Amino acid sequence: MCGIVGYLGKNEKKEILLDGLEELEYRGYDSAGIAIIENKQLKNFKAVGRLKNLREKTKDYLSEGFGVSIGHTRWATHGKPTELNAHPHMGAYSFVVHNGIIENYQALKKELQSQGVTFLSQTDTETIVHLFEKNHKINNNAWASFQETIEKLEGAYATLLITEADEETIYFAKNGSPMLIGFKEDEVYFASSDTPIIGKATEVYYLEDGEFGYARHGKVYLFDANGQKTFTKQALATDKALAQKDGYRFFMEKEIYEQSSVMHDTIIGRVLDEKIDFEELNPELFNNISNIKICACGTSYHSALASSYLFERLSKIPCQIEIASEFRYKEPLLHDDTLFITISQSGETADTLEALKMAKRAGLKSLSICNVDNSSIVRESDAAVLTRAGIEKGVASTKAFATQTMVLWMLAIYVAQVKKSISKETLEKELLAMRQTPKALLVNNKLHHKMTRLSKRYLHGHGFFFIGRDLFFPLALEGALKLKEISYLHAEGYPSGEMKHGPIALADAELFTIALMPKSLHYDKIKSNVEELCARDVTLLAISPEPFDLADDFVQTSYSSHPMLEFFEMMVITQLLALEISVRLGNDVDMPRNLAKSVTVE
Ligand code: F6R
Repeated sequence: MCGIVGYLGKNEKKEILLDGLEELEYRGYDSAGIAIIENKQLKNFKAVGRLKNLREKTKDYLSEGFGVSIGHTRWATHGKPTELNAHPHMGAYSFVVHNGIIENYQALKKELQSQGVTFLSQTDTETIVHLFEKNHKINNNAWASFQETIEKLEGAYATLLITEADEETIYFAKNGSPMLIGFKEDEVYFASSDTPIIGKATEVYYLEDGEFGYARHGKVYLFDANGQKTFTKQALATDKALAQKDGYRFFMEKEIYEQSSVMHDTIIGRVLDEKIDFEELNPELFNNISNIKICACGTSYHSALASSYLFERLSKIPCQIEIASEFRYKEPLLHDDTLFITISQSGETADTLEALKMAKRAGLKSLSICNVDNSSIVRESDAAVLTRAGIEKGVASTKAFATQTMVLWMLAIYVAQVKKSISKETLEKELLAMRQTPKALLVNNKLHHKMTRLSKRYLHGHGFFFIGRDLFFPLALEGALKLKEISYLHAEGYPSGEMKHGPIALADAELFTIALMPKSLHYDKIKSNVEELCARDVTLLAISPEPFDLADDFVQTSYSSHPMLEFFEMMVITQLLALEISVRLGNDVDMPRNLAKSVTVE
């Protein structure tokens, strides 16, 4: 995630940048920074933590003449949330801010270091400014240097650069991360979304991937691979509340739609051509490890449960999953050949944190999978992998779950590589499916519309059973949890093979059954289980790539080549179902009753 802003004009720049960053704080708040060039003077401020720390640091500074300025609020991906890692990153006479991930930064950094360039931060972003200055040293032309820099970058970026070598210009480029340009008379604004510029600019242009250029003297010069291009500005929205949700009705809805793009961030630089790589992990962490134990709560527990199938199947390593609040008091037997993994979106969940401390006291090595760098769980762990989902505002977790599951899937392959327990063919198949995941998460309008229509038939009844087998059992649990959290209807997740051992007694026409029926994993087995339920007249919503005659309602999925692609596609469907039922019931989707986003009490 991360948020960026830029301003070129004659108004006071510090407040424009800080106000803009405040609107973008939802995109990350590990640190923030601004850089301003005014009267040929470069000024730069950075502070770790929330934006208020930067406000405090800059309270005596004002920038009132004409100038150029850029700002950034960070969600750490490469390197800890320290001041050195905060943006803007500086070269000798230039500053850069960036949102996204430069996939080839290590190769670029190595090359620059071999030419004598010193890096101050651990970030991928710093390569941009050094590359720019290296080019500038050779050609003494800032625009040409910027173009040459952009050509070298691989990955996702929205970036702004200012330089004393051309002090009335802001250079910009976008590829895969959001950025727009706002206009008002001879002022030019840049931002990651439109909220920072609403009320300031009057018109806007939303940059497309592959576009770059510069703003100078109130004018914007826009280019793409085919050269300079014209562009049409549009009127800027005036409703800030709507804009914060990017036009969606709820944050949860926005976050469901965002899953495809954040998944790109989760896998970028990790799913490589021939292997999985986690630059934050040392393979030695897995030395002498012959067991994995994973501890988590709620939705995070469900992602853990799904991963247990993957660790055993792909990494060939025994894997046990524990609910953190149970684990704490069961007097568990712990051995130091076990890697203790905690999963937490917030990194602050009290039960999970305490479980981690217990495992550490028992001498276990620990790894956390978390969405918040520098959170208590990350700090407490020997190693951490960040899920890079960006801030999740809806209390009912969606994109955090998706990215946790993805990281665990990648981790299962990583462990398999370290333990050499995976064949080349399987590895290739897994990597291919991973690369297809962002596509499997796309929400299309037709599907959403169908879920909206279907939802009206599922507002009553005496309960819901979400059923699935194998990986789809944890997904059934998660589907049921989403529904109960925001609809307040009773819902259970069950392994479909277990229904006949008791729960089938509940089966009648008022029992709504949501059957997850993937084609690539035990289809015939689950089909028999579902038929048994249909014989008891349950009302059935079947989700499958394979048409199913007995279903009252049927949602046809499109993936059938890999269980995880089916998993993610079906996950989106269950999220939309819960969302639309909740909307029809008139509930508060984003802040359901009795729940909190971060559970820091036992
Ligand atoms: C449900 C949900 C919760 C959390 C649980 C653990 O939508 O979000 O079940 O998963 O409270 O929280 P974290 O992941 O922050 O440890």
